[in-house]
Amino acid sequence: MLRLRPFSPSDIPHVRYIVESSMKEEYPASMFFDIHNHWRDGFIVSDYSGSTVGFIAPLKTGPKRARILVLAVLETFRCQGIGTALMTAFTNECGLKGMSVIELEVRESNKAAIRFYAKLGYQAVDVLPKFYKDGEDGLKMLRNL
Ligand SMILES: CC(C)(COP(=O)(O)OP(=O)(O)OC[C@H]1O[C@@H](n2cnc3c(N)ncnc32)[C@H](O)[C@@H]1OP(=O)(O)O)[C@@H](O)C(=O)NCCC(=O)NCCS
Repeated sequence: MLRLRPFSPSDIPHVRYIVESSMKEEYPASMFFDIHNHWRDGFIVSDYSGSTVGFIAPLKTGPKRARILVLAVLETFRCQGIGTALMTAFTNECGLKGMSVIELEVRESNKAAIRFYAKLGYQAVDVLPKFYKDGEDGLKMLRNL
């Protein structure tokens, strides 16, 4: 069954696998360790019957501002509400910490994620030219809490 819990460093190989299989980005193991130290209760993973199937990794970019750095769910587990559950848990954590804005960047071509975020109340506020290493533009989206 689905369970959400804080990330622990032993999750690093699993979250790296989820990123590798889901996205064009690559992140070093040290980045996940740093995020864990930066915001323990904000870095949330989803376990399904004991396997790590998704996670959300955020940063605090200001006293009242949060940024979602990575959100991903393993492909075979998508469209079952896991991404929404991660976003809801993270939004609650932001509320507890007194955040007023959550922002994120998404590839312009990633229409499924853009729809997903729009459903959750995020609005596109800016285009970020050549934001990604391969030259693709990003879309800045944000939600006020
Ligand atoms: C974006 C992502 C995290 C969504 O996770 P998820 O567990 O599939 O999300 P949910 O099941 O909670 O979906 C909620 C809604 O988002 C939309 N959605 C999610 N994935 C979709 C897809 N592949 N195609 C179309 N709509 C999609 C649906 O409208 C869905 O609403 P519904 O339940 O009314 O059908 C997941 O697709 C993913 O990991 N994608 C690859 C990584 C990525 O792009 N991350 C975001 C980059 S910033």
